[in-house]
Amino acid sequence: MTICFESPELAAATLREEKKMQTDADKLVSNEEFAVPENNAFGKSFRDYEADGERKDIVEQHYKLSHINQTYDFVKRMRDEYKKLDKAEMGIWECCELLNDVVDDSDPDLDEPQIQHLLQSAEAIRKDYPEEDWLHLTALIHDLGKILVLPKFGELPQWAVVGDTFPVGCAFDDSNVHHKYFKENPDFNNPSHNTKNGVYSEGCGLDNVLMSWGHDDYMYMVAKENGTTLPSAGLFIIRYHSFYPLHKYGAYTQLMNKEDKENMKWLKIFNKYDLYSKSKVLVDVEEVKPYYESLIAKYFPAKLNW
Ligand SMILES: [Fe+2]
Ligand SMILES: [Fe+2]
Repeated sequence: MTICFESPELAAATLREEKKMQTDADKLVSNEEFAVPENNAFGKSFRDYEADGERKDIVEQHYKLSHINQTYDFVKRMRDEYKKLDKAEMGIWECCELLNDVVDDSDPDLDEPQIQHLLQSAEAIRKDYPEEDWLHLTALIHDLGKILVLPKFGELPQWAVVGDTFPVGCAFDDSNVHHKYFKENPDFNNPSHNTKNGVYSEGCGLDNVLMSWGHDDYMYMVAKENGTTLPSAGLFIIRYHSFYPLHKYGAYTQLMNKEDKENMKWLKIFNKYDLYSKSKVLVDVEEVKPYYESLIAKYFPAKLNW
């Protein structure tokens, strides 16, 4: 089953892609053949939000809803609800398999099952940074929070799960994609939330900043609360990998502390793989599974609360 949202066009596009995937099955290759592709799964440049792709309108609509509804109060409510971690008990690999039913509406590049995206990113990093096993595992798990769209995890709308993230409680920087829709966000005109630093202070550290709610913050919370031994750079990647205004445009840097600045270099490395490994080269899941199972056992308990 593939879970799609509010969109007959997306369903049709997904069906076409499923047919195409069958013809692509013979392209199943192992790790050696990763290369940075020039184009995404649809033959367009990556993160081109203006290209006339099949998903352009879906993506824009996504950001409209996100920018209107992601308020400071909304994020606080979501964090309180999900901090309970009372939705499920399962292991990391189990969650990877669960994620296969999810397609990300906000992403103009990706139209493969999520487990392929996770493994493509992880395997590409593993090839280039063989010693950094924590980074391979970080890549594998960075998107697991997308299970928030599934009924058992609250069935949140896509605008509350995926897409670029941004701080709430301070002014929305112009570098946010489709910035114009923030004008309809109640915080936009709230004087305590619409100044450069808003409710925060300079150098307070990103840990103390509320980010728009989505899969990034949720997975960060799950990893932390379940006592992961991943280094702080791994947790930083998980929480901020969709924070494009920061890592692509250098916005909001005044909120960072020293540790954030050090972790940024790993996020920039990771991001290249997150973006460019979304291609039609499929990873043989069964072949690589034992390696990732061993990393999971090293950095996580066998079962986690979600
Ligand atoms: Fe993500
Ligand atoms: Fe990702």
